[in-house]
Amino acid sequence: MLQKIEQLMQEISALHAKNAQEAEALRIKYLSKKGEISQLMNDFRSVPAELKKEVGMKINELKNFAQERINALKEGAGESSASGSDAIDLTRTPYPITLGSRHPLTIVKNEIVDIFSRLGFTLAEGPEVEDDWHVYSSLNFADDHPARDMQDTFFVEAHPDIILRSHTSSVQSRVMEATQPPIRILCPGRVYRNEAVSARAHCFFHQVEGLYVDKNVSFTDLKQVLLLFAQELFGPETKIRLRPSYFPFTEPSAEMDVSCTICGGKGCSMCKGSGWLEILGCGMVDPAVLEANGIDSSVYTGYAFGMGIERITNLKYQVKDLRMFSENDVRFLDEFTSAR
Ligand code: DAH
Repeated sequence: MLQKIEQLMQEISALHAKNAQEAEALRIKYLSKKGEISQLMNDFRSVPAELKKEVGMKINELKNFAQERINALKEGAGESSASGSDAIDLTRTPYPITLGSRHPLTIVKNEIVDIFSRLGFTLAEGPEVEDDWHVYSSLNFADDHPARDMQDTFFVEAHPDIILRSHTSSVQSRVMEATQPPIRILCPGRVYRNEAVSARAHCFFHQVEGLYVDKNVSFTDLKQVLLLFAQELFGPETKIRLRPSYFPFTEPSAEMDVSCTICGGKGCSMCKGSGWLEILGCGMVDPAVLEANGIDSSVYTGYAFGMGIERITNLKYQVKDLRMFSENDVRFLDEFTSAR
């Protein structure tokens, strides 16, 4: 009996039908009241009791298989009998077309670039694989500055002088060594730091660097440009606050806060009750940096600023986990389809 079932199984899996009639003939042969499978069911009575369970299951399997197979042959026969052009439904609407979306970091980067282009900044680029000079030494980092440490910087094993840039400030140096003022540039790009990946830190992220060098550039100019930037980005009600800070390449240096984008300054969980959110570092280019990059510091002054794109994107869209930016999960990316 089991052998017979196995044999029918093979026979049925090899069946072909040219058209619906042939498929129907096969149905009659195997599945009708007098068909081969019904015959097996009749014989089932004589199967010894201890084999009944196994044989019963096999017969059921065979029956289901035969039904599926013959149905498929019927449908297949229908299709192949239709002429080629009938297979394409020309009346079907092409909509909805699934649209791709820009990556949230690209959306925010474009917005930042757009604002500064209107103020006369042009784009500049530099390499992600850099040397120590452009990332640190030319920017006035002392030899023992902790940022050079292995805990922060990715080094190339065979060449300790070759590193992955840890900030886009390296592009300042690239541009200054190649051009004389006036210089007014914006450098968006990816940077790398040796951090364990978590919701709040990543080993790569994105920054935008700004640099303006000319005669008579003052801190007032810097403050005014940053105020305009913050109001364009977060809305006309936005206030800014500059706090004294330290960076090796600027003197004086400051960190800029904007009034909280959620509560407007009253204090909430986003700004931890302070009403302010830190968004960038800035300052007047240290004369030593101008000189190291071939610019006469007795003639020219300049300002610089740098910000993290992930940070600003989080403030605008409340993305809770930094890892989402690089996972390419379409459910996340689709949320930005309606953004610019
Ligand atoms: N490079 C700094 C960082 O990665 C950011 C920065 C601060 C850039 C002050 C600047 C600046 O141009 O003036 O944290």
